[in-house]
Amino acid sequence: MDTVSSFRAELEELAAWRRELHRHPEPGFGEHRTAAFVADKLRAFGVDEVHTGIAITGVVGVLRGRAEGPAIALRADMDALPISEETNLPWSSRVPGWMHACGHDGHTVMLLAAARRLARSRDFAGTVCFVFQPAEEMLGGGRRMVEEGLFERLPVREVYGLHNWPWLPLGTFAVHDGPVMAAADRLDVTLTGRGCHAAMPHLGRDPVTGAAQIVSALQLLVSRETDPVDAAVISITAIAAGEAYNVVPERAALKGTVRTLREETRERLLARIPGVVRGIAAALGLEAEVEITRGYPATVNTKDEADEAARAAAAVVGGEAVRRDLPPSMGAEDFAFMLRERPGAYVWLGTGGAEKGRILHSPHYDFEDEAIPYGAAYWVELVRRRLPAE
Ligand code: NI
Repeated sequence: MDTVSSFRAELEELAAWRRELHRHPEPGFGEHRTAAFVADKLRAFGVDEVHTGIAITGVVGVLRGRAEGPAIALRADMDALPISEETNLPWSSRVPGWMHACGHDGHTVMLLAAARRLARSRDFAGTVCFVFQPAEEMLGGGRRMVEEGLFERLPVREVYGLHNWPWLPLGTFAVHDGPVMAAADRLDVTLTGRGCHAAMPHLGRDPVTGAAQIVSALQLLVSRETDPVDAAVISITAIAAGEAYNVVPERAALKGTVRTLREETRERLLARIPGVVRGIAAALGLEAEVEITRGYPATVNTKDEADEAARAAAAVVGGEAVRRDLPPSMGAEDFAFMLRERPGAYVWLGTGGAEKGRILHSPHYDFEDEAIPYGAAYWVELVRRRLPAE
């Protein structure tokens, strides 16, 4: 039986792997040590093929079952974050300025644990591709794997991903229909006015008051132009201008993020922003440069695969422990690029920890090792359901 308790029997070993990865966090596309750890383990498990170097540090293990059948991909991410760890745990990061603050060490180990179990039993019909991707945070390692032909090399029918969720109790899951995570696009604005003495503003053109107007006006795109039951966020997160008390500066620069769940809302906002910025700038006699950089699209589950994922999770933890009613997060996730290519589902695995301040991207975060058996059992259950042996 591949129940949670059967993985709990291996927990000491699995937690040791997780802590080993935790001690050695690596940046996106720099996961050389982690990739070698993963590839060595996959080979030791007797996985049929181990592909390395996809998107620089990505690793894919290919495992064939006892009988012929379709292929599915299960994905984990491997990269860490530029955060200085403050947990003081014995397995705390040994790399200054970097830590596994998003639990990708745990994701990697849960998928490895499932790969070992499935390599022993091979009691499924078809092929499982274990995808260990680099650079989930900011750099789009998932996109790069797709661009390098991941799905041409591995003709999979479906893709599945998982993320730990410290705000849900340990041993629970959340599965969304439709959007799970938001699209995240970047906005850069440069306003150019005319510098002057701060006591004689009429002699110049002030980009600081212009920046303030633009920050306010952009909020109206959300509150006045977006359906209130749809979700969108525009956050201006950096403003740089001037340095003296008595000088109106020549320039102001703004940075921000635009988050949306629906593609049409995304397109509408990204199209509207430059017009609003330029219109206000023109009204105030300023020049505006607007640059929009497209980031990750929304992560959107397909209905049938979300239902299958929820049934697999329910088989592991019971139906009451699988939430189907949670709203999406406005965070972003580059598994979105894989979900644009194939049907599939991205689920949240409850780990607890938020009540102790262990939340994602915090210097106090640590992946909850007690969650490893739940994630590993989910992967195994999902494979047996999607690729049934008889
Ligand atoms: Ni993450």
